[in-house]
Order: sequence, then C-alpha cells, then structure tokens
Amino acid sequence: MSDAKLLTGRVLIFDTSPFDGDPAQSVRVEEAVCLQSGKVAATGTFETLRKAYPTAELHLYGDALIMAGFVDAHVHYPQTAVIASWGKRLIDWLNTYTFPEEMQFHNPAYAAEIAGRYLDLALAYGTTTACSFCTSHPTSVTAFFEAAQGRNMRVVAGKTCMDRHAPQGLLDTAQTAYDQSKILLETWHGVDRLSYAITPRFSPTSTPEQLQALGALWAEHPDCLMQTHLSEQTDEIAWVRTLYPSARDYLDTYEEHGLLGPLGLYGHAIHLEPRERDRLRDTGGALVHCPTSNMFIGSGLFDMAARMAEDQVVGLASDIGGGSSFSMLRTMAAAYEIAQLRGTALHPAQLLWLATAGSARALHLDDKIGNISSGLEADLVVLDLASTPTIAQRAERAEDIWQAVFPTLMMGDDRAVRDVWVAGQVVKLSSQPQ
Ligand code: GUN
Ligand code: ZN
Repeated sequence: MSDAKLLTGRVLIFDTSPFDGDPAQSVRVEEAVCLQSGKVAATGTFETLRKAYPTAELHLYGDALIMAGFVDAHVHYPQTAVIASWGKRLIDWLNTYTFPEEMQFHNPAYAAEIAGRYLDLALAYGTTTACSFCTSHPTSVTAFFEAAQGRNMRVVAGKTCMDRHAPQGLLDTAQTAYDQSKILLETWHGVDRLSYAITPRFSPTSTPEQLQALGALWAEHPDCLMQTHLSEQTDEIAWVRTLYPSARDYLDTYEEHGLLGPLGLYGHAIHLEPRERDRLRDTGGALVHCPTSNMFIGSGLFDMAARMAEDQVVGLASDIGGGSSFSMLRTMAAAYEIAQLRGTALHPAQLLWLATAGSARALHLDDKIGNISSGLEADLVVLDLASTPTIAQRAERAEDIWQAVFPTLMMGDDRAVRDVWVAGQVVKLSSQPQ
C-alpha cells in the first residue's frame, strides 16, 4: 500500500544559493509537495499532484510555509540543561558551567535522558538535523545516536576528545581518544541516518599528540566529518599561541596535525587571520556561524558578507548551550542582527538558506537534506506565518512572500512550528497538547 502524503501550502524551494545572485530569484514557491517512502516524490500544483497521487493522504496547510527542516550545524547536546548560564566568557564559562555538567555523562541513564530531551526540544523548534558534540564519554555518543535512531532523525555526532586543561573526569588520552573514537565510528557511521564526526574539542584541551592521533584517524576514514572550534574569542586565541608556539596561527594547530580538510567543520571562526581565511577557502572546510552564542558569550561579530564574498563554505548553528536559543528562527534573527552591525542586511532568503541548504552543504549532506526536491529525504517544517498577534499584524501588511516571512524570522519561536515531518512522517511535538 502506498504511504504517499500530499501537503499543500506555500512550498519553499531553493533553485540556487541566494548568495550567488538576486536572493529573491533563488527561490520557487509551489502549491504542493508529495512525500513517499520517506522522500520527496514530487512538487507542483495541487491539481497535478492530486492526479498523480490520487490515494495520497491529504494535509492541507492553507497559507503556511512548508520548507526543509532546519539543519543546526553545531550544537552540544550535553549542554541542554545549562543553557542560559549567567555572567562568564568562554574559558570561565567552560570551567564553571560546561565541564561540571559534561562530567555527568559517564552515566548512561543521564546521557539518555538529556539526549532525548535535546532531540525533542530541537524537533519542537523545527530542527530536524543536528551536528552535535557529545562529551568525552563514549556512553554520551551511544545515548545520542540511540535517541536519534529511535526518532528516525538524520544526525551527526562524535565523542568530544580532550586530554588536558579540564577536570580529570573529562580527560582521555591521545590513545584512548583514538581508540574510543574509532570504535564509535565503526559502530555508528552510516548506520540508518547517523554519521560520525571525529571531534577534538579545540586546541587548548588537546595535546599535539592527541590532535595528531585524531588526524591519523581522519586520514583512515576520510569520508567522516571532523568538527572542532576555531578562533571564537581573542583570549582563547592568545592562549593557543602560548600552547602551540611554533604554529603560524590557530588554524595551523589543526593543519599541522592533519585536521584541515574539505570535511572539516570549524565552529565560530570569527577572528581569522588572512592566511587562515585563504587556507579555509582553498581546502573548502566549513565555517560554522553561531550568532546567539557569539553574542551571549561576548565572542565577536562574524562577518558573513565578507566570508561569502571570498567564497567560504558557511553553516549556521545554535551552539547550544553557549547559544541562548534552540530555535533556528531566533538564530537567523541573531545572524541578521550581527550582519547589520557589520553593515549588511541579509535577505530573508539568505537566512533561510543558511538554516537549511547552507548548513546541509557545510555538513556534506546536501544530497540528502536541506531542500525540497524529488529524491531528497522528507524532513520538513511547516511554519505558521501568523503565530502570535504581533507577528500576525505585521505579516498582514506583506506584499510579497519575503515580507510575509520576515516577521516570523525576527520574532518567531516554537509557536510558529505547526508541524514537523521526519523521513516522511509527521512528528508529535513535545510542545503540542498531548
Ligand atoms: N570551545 C570549546 N568548547 C566549547 C564549547 O563547549 N562551547 C563553545 N561555545 N565554545 C567552545
Ligand atoms: Zn561549540
């Protein structure tokens, strides 16, 4: 029996990147989309799709926006319960709030509880894919992959390796980081919708020996992503300089140890030297912009327009729990505000692209998710563009789709998320009445 579903609304489809030409022309809006066997089967007019799929179950969403589910390209699911912790900057914040919380993830029951809580919150906000750091405990990775597998979600995750400058309960070694990452990678990478990312936390918490060991592991598994942090705060960069005196710059601490490549994901990447920018562009590694986090921890203003103009690969992320919201709507608003402070007004199409297709491209998953196109996996979010009185009264004046969408990007939250679809099935959201 066919499991086809026919959804009607305003179906937002990216034909090209809105950073490559007129942003308004990068998008097509169709009346309907048909899902079958977990994938997008077709898009088009309601009439055409109704004829082609006469028995499809109908989901009529009126004038709601139907788009690809959000892709959050950098989160720390273990920090879910310490989001919005007051008053510290990066290194202090890690020592005061993050490391003590992460120590608890040696406990499989706690790891499972927070993994489930994180994924349910993410879904409630319309995020269907996340690329997450776990903790240094292998059990934290197992818990996350099992929780995602149970929800049939496409996720990326890895054991966060760290062998210095953290409490004993979080430290591994160069050898155990390699061994445990390898076992986890061999267990989970490519299983169902899961993929493994080799994950050195950042240069200050790894010895050169550990970075070297993880570089070797990446060379043995070049189809895996590698995720880390880069040049988030100026104090951190100065610390890296003292820890790696022979490195040309922060990026070089990774490059020297085999941790720079096209499948590399470099979180934050705010304060880059010209050589670092050139090397990132030449290798194709992705810069992951974490705007709410950069404001919350006081890290700095990522220059989106400059990075796009020099052809960098850029993703967008919440960076839970340095980030202050699970919502990619709020994350887009923060990206807009930071770009304004840098002198550029990002177009709503550019914001939506960064939160979907752009992040999917950064994760090398754009052949699977991040857009609505036949053959892609059917992970969708349906957004009510009048979800609060404030938004509704502003959207009422809209003269085109962008004016209709922008108030929700700036002011929307989980109340805007009407439905979420994962692999062609509608999800019961934790924020909806039971
Ligand atoms: N740098 C190293 N670890 C972290 C982390 O957990 N969060 C953020 N924002 N930056 C980091
Ligand atoms: Zn991070």
